[in-house]
Amino acid sequence: MLNNRPHASVSPSAMGVTSASPVITYVSDEQRARMLAFQSFKFKHSLAPKNLMPLDKVKDLTREMLAQKRFSQIYSRIGAQELAPQNVFDALTALEALHPTDTWVRLQDVDAVLPEFRDVVEQFYADLSELFQRNIKAEVLRPFVTIFVSSPGETTPYHIDHTWNFLLQLSGSKTVHLFDPTDPNVLQPNDQEDWYCRRRGVVQQPGTTGIAYRLDPGEGVHHPVNAPHWVQNYDEVSVSLSLGLCRHDSTRKAKIHQTNWLLRKAGLKPKPPGHSPRGDQIKALIMESMSNRHPKNFDETLYSGFNRILSPARFLKRVAERSRPS
Ligand SMILES: [Fe+2]
Repeated sequence: MLNNRPHASVSPSAMGVTSASPVITYVSDEQRARMLAFQSFKFKHSLAPKNLMPLDKVKDLTREMLAQKRFSQIYSRIGAQELAPQNVFDALTALEALHPTDTWVRLQDVDAVLPEFRDVVEQFYADLSELFQRNIKAEVLRPFVTIFVSSPGETTPYHIDHTWNFLLQLSGSKTVHLFDPTDPNVLQPNDQEDWYCRRRGVVQQPGTTGIAYRLDPGEGVHHPVNAPHWVQNYDEVSVSLSLGLCRHDSTRKAKIHQTNWLLRKAGLKPKPPGHSPRGDQIKALIMESMSNRHPKNFDETLYSGFNRILSPARFLKRVAERSRPS
């Protein structure tokens, strides 16, 4: 069983992972109980011991992504200023400054650039399937493999994500504060609908607290789908690998939220997802029939159907506004 394995030894390959080397190496009994209930849980992983993503290697990866013109996969900012992808090296340099800077770099879909990450994902699917005793890959549309690099003391504000996330700490340390998305005090009734339809961020409700998971290199934490969280770095540059799995069931639920939002705009009062299996089926079908069959990215996965429905409505609204007498 995975939870009895010691840390796997790291091979000489670039990422230090082979098909015989589990990524998830240990889950305690207490955390395993949380895992089986689909709650947040902490685990140990095998990707950190050889410092496999030092800043030099992050720079090499970034250089390669720029050479391949993968600009949409590169995001960086210093303070509040978002940088153009071509200027990402300004942020990578700022990360090495003696005094902490509020700097953040995100490299998305890195598995498209480094094949080693594809091996990590395949092994991760195998590990999860063993842990959950189910074929996890069959439950997932696609993975989103992301490297996060951030400066000492950096704070990531409270937010939610669509993906089923596993955050693996590679170097530096941070604390992830994770909240229970099934707690009605944490997520208000329309929070998810607003997030999926109006892209409106969630707000931490007074009196709610999350679980604080300190992550040192070699440790990881599972984020349930839509679990609100915020993150605090310690006093070193932090490098983390995020394996975000886009689950079929959560994407279907997102589309039910989107249909509900449209019905609400039409003056109706639809039931939230999970209250009517037949109703959910029809709502999901409506949105799925309008969505791209083979989405190329996250936005198309979630929004292609919704945007397609909204486009004519927005066009008609613009025409009506223009023809209105001034
Ligand atoms: Fe997040």
